[in-house]
Amino acid sequence: MIDRITIEKIIDTADIVEVIRDFVTLTKKGKDYKCLCPFHDDKNPSMSVSPSRGIYKCFSCGAAGNTVKFVMEHERMTYPEALKYIANKYNIEIIEKEETEEERKLKTARESMESVTLYAKNYFHQKLLESKEGKAIGLSYLIERGFTEATIKTFGLGYAPDGYEVFSKSAIHAGYKTEFLLSTGLSIKGKNNKLFDRFAGRVIFPIESISGKVIGFGGRTLKNDKAKYLNSPESELYHKSDVLYGLSYAKRSISKQDKCFLVEGYTDVISMYQAGITNVAASSGTALTEGQIKKIKRFTRNITVLYDGDEAGIKASIRGIDLILEQDMNVKVLPMPEGEDPDSFAKSHSATEFLNYIEQNEQDFVVYKANLLLKSVKNDPIKRSGVIKDVVSTIAIIPDRITRSVYIKECSKLLEIREDILYQDVQSKIIAKNKLTKHYPEKPKEYQAKKTTESKQSYTDISFNTLEKEMLGYIIRYGDKTVNLNISGKLQEKNIFAYIISELEDDDLEFRNSTYREVYNLAKKMYDEKEFIDVNLFINSENVKISETVIDIISSPFTLSKIHNINPDRDIEEENLPESVPKTVLVYKIKIVASLISDKMNELKNAESESDNEKIDTLIKEIQLLFKTKELLANILGRVVF
Ligand code: CTP
Ligand code: MN
Repeated sequence: MIDRITIEKIIDTADIVEVIRDFVTLTKKGKDYKCLCPFHDDKNPSMSVSPSRGIYKCFSCGAAGNTVKFVMEHERMTYPEALKYIANKYNIEIIEKEETEEERKLKTARESMESVTLYAKNYFHQKLLESKEGKAIGLSYLIERGFTEATIKTFGLGYAPDGYEVFSKSAIHAGYKTEFLLSTGLSIKGKNNKLFDRFAGRVIFPIESISGKVIGFGGRTLKNDKAKYLNSPESELYHKSDVLYGLSYAKRSISKQDKCFLVEGYTDVISMYQAGITNVAASSGTALTEGQIKKIKRFTRNITVLYDGDEAGIKASIRGIDLILEQDMNVKVLPMPEGEDPDSFAKSHSATEFLNYIEQNEQDFVVYKANLLLKSVKNDPIKRSGVIKDVVSTIAIIPDRITRSVYIKECSKLLEIREDILYQDVQSKIIAKNKLTKHYPEKPKEYQAKKTTESKQSYTDISFNTLEKEMLGYIIRYGDKTVNLNISGKLQEKNIFAYIISELEDDDLEFRNSTYREVYNLAKKMYDEKEFIDVNLFINSENVKISETVIDIISSPFTLSKIHNINPDRDIEEENLPESVPKTVLVYKIKIVASLISDKMNELKNAESESDNEKIDTLIKEIQLLFKTKELLANILGRVVF
């Protein structure tokens, strides 16, 4: 449990831009920042981050919140986990209450897996640097490979002592449960339920999430084992297909250089990093996944894939690259010189030499692929047309039309085929693809909202929700303001919040939307106590619904034009308060009366079918009264409008 004061301190200290920047690339737009929304498949930056308010909001998918919420959602952390993460970033000390047995039980399995994984990382690291066996076998191996002690520490490399259950025993002794040793794969259950160590005798490469949390390990053998590497198994904590080795170290640099080098192995990443090329991550020897590419896309759209090995190997991995193209990324490939991998090359060259080599030899992927495929064709016409088909389908994958046409030009020369024919082939491929896959055009909600605003609708068509949201907006944004309100044609100096409260409560009205009601009640309490509305308290509320609702209200311009016939422009919104506030309240009331009328009408129908004359009489009277009220309100409304 983290105490209230510390929570407030964490929220106050955290700079939303600094925190979010660790996960996505932000670009400045005026006072605010924009980025690709990491919570949906975003094509154009639709997330906006406001440092002054400490909030983010995606105008496409609606994701919104404060700094803590962002970390929670992005890293799939619980509230306390996210707070701890931010506290750690800002060196804020967290004083936690002693955990009760109850609370300890409540800890999720994932948290337990995380803690035993962290324990293992520290254990292996310490064994490498301090134990006799670790130094003699693990450390000397790494040093011999050219890794400096600083690098070894940066990447937290380790050594798992040889033997059956050296590590497992130590972990159990330290209080970790067998259950989590097994679920993280650190230990394996053998015969007679005995545990044995998965990584025994191996050099350890800890694998981290983007935020730098240890989630798994790769263990390299130093003997002649069949498997050179053993890796942590897929688990609740370690989703292989979403992870790129080294990304937690590389992300800032990738964003700064606006480029990511993609290599295959752990040692490639570490050697390049040590040589000074830090914008590098590894797919860890497996085929690239969409999840991995999306992670990179948050920081850059430019990827260069570094290949070691022969052409056959490169050909085999080319499918993975189509996947990168599909994500609208610019892809280049760089075949390493024969017999070299990025690891060895980084050891024998300086960073400048390496970067020069890359610059001079990296080739555009599509062109590279066409060339590579053409090599094996010779003069076989059937093979040739197969290559053309292959290249056409690759170009068709690229979402951007202009990029496609550049490639068509280029490949028409390469493949010696007329540009217009190639163009037609690509077009028909695209059409065929669109028929197969359902296509959802991405339209920001804002745009959709505007469209309905423009269509002619009577104000009674506006939903209760919209009206309640609007009233709540006045309360939150201008509640403590006192203005001359146009109340049935006369200007009266009123406090906006007090006015809305009295209008609603005099008629015994309550917000129908339960979250709005909750915010309204909290605001009322706040106003009674402090005489002002502290928006930050809502934004930073632990109650996600409240925080989201309030952020939504303050960050989306009102769709006022429907009732107010004015341009919903923020700048003039304040000037319009004298009429827009009373008008909204009136329209809301009219709507309520109208809905009461329709309820009563239904009752009347029932009463008629049951020939309940007494009831029919009362209902008719009630309905007449409601109609009168409605007329009265409509009259006042008529007078409000200038
Ligand atoms: N890999 C693996 N399991 C194996 C072999 C390879 O998981 N049995 C993964 C590892 O992530 C490894 C990557 O594939 O880092 C690339 O393999 P390779 O180039 O063979 O290994 P290196 O990392 O280059 O290791 P080393 O230089 O020590 O041989
Ligand atoms: Mn290697």
